[in-house]
Amino acid sequence: MAAADDAGFRTLAAMIARARGLDVGAYKPNCLRRRIAVRMRARGAHTYDDYARVLAADATEYDRLLDALTINVTKFYRNRETWDALAADMVPGLWDETGGTLRCWSAGCASGEEPYTLAVLLLEEARRRGTAPPRARVDATDLDRESLARAAAGRYPASAFDEMPESLVQRYFTGAGPRDAVPAVRALVHFVRHDLLREPPPAPPYDLILCRNVVIYFDRPSQERLYAGFARALAPHGVLVLGKVETLVGEARGMFRLLDVRERIYRRAA
Ligand SMILES: C[S@@+](CC[C@H](N)C(=O)[O-])C[C@H]1O[C@@H](n2cnc3c(N)ncnc32)[C@H](O)[C@@H]1O
Repeated sequence: MAAADDAGFRTLAAMIARARGLDVGAYKPNCLRRRIAVRMRARGAHTYDDYARVLAADATEYDRLLDALTINVTKFYRNRETWDALAADMVPGLWDETGGTLRCWSAGCASGEEPYTLAVLLLEEARRRGTAPPRARVDATDLDRESLARAAAGRYPASAFDEMPESLVQRYFTGAGPRDAVPAVRALVHFVRHDLLREPPPAPPYDLILCRNVVIYFDRPSQERLYAGFARALAPHGVLVLGKVETLVGEARGMFRLLDVRERIYRRAA
């Protein structure tokens, strides 16, 4: 890359950081450049300076750029084996330890499919035990306002449920076309806008933290900081779940014990 282009990129990054409080420096540079390139093409900007002028003239372009930067693909029951492991093992164990008052955090929840799936698991565990709905709480956070608005609406197209067992879809979602989460599911989940790179965990200590398919976009020092922060935010018996292609790095490796290598499930070391 030409030096002028590099300087243009840095100026642009600083401009985005100032305007929207996004810590662009903590994302992997290639990932960042690819996403910005998508928006540059869409707006016919040939250089970073051109694109900075587009942003300066049209504030709505910041929203489009943030959408492009925060890749928010997700599904109910995404990676089914991970949820099966949680349902069979970790959720019953944590339930026993907490008496059903699990405090959970879905960090980088996108449009809500992950935290609602967790709420379904908690309700299923209550059903299995023949007890009242759990006195649990799922904090669900994301940086992306648009995703959070979709999450709060709680209405999803049929395609969002591809991986979820049909019996659970029938029990916890209503409607024939788009489906709505039932009130018991919604009552467990609290959505909050939160930047993982800039803000402390919302309400520790947590018994269970899910942070799946988020950290892959961050550079290594940010990953290390985040994982160590998760260890500190967990209760002593607490469980951390990462995405299938993610793995612990840095000092956090000594702060967790591996529970399930395939599903990337860890328990905080005592
Ligand atoms: C691919 S989605 C993952 C959704 C869900 N966890 C899953 O695995 O299906 C990644 C999410 O991370 C969010 N994200 C990216 N950077 C973030 C940050 N700094 N703080 C909070 N969320 C962030 C994006 O907005 C996006 O919704």
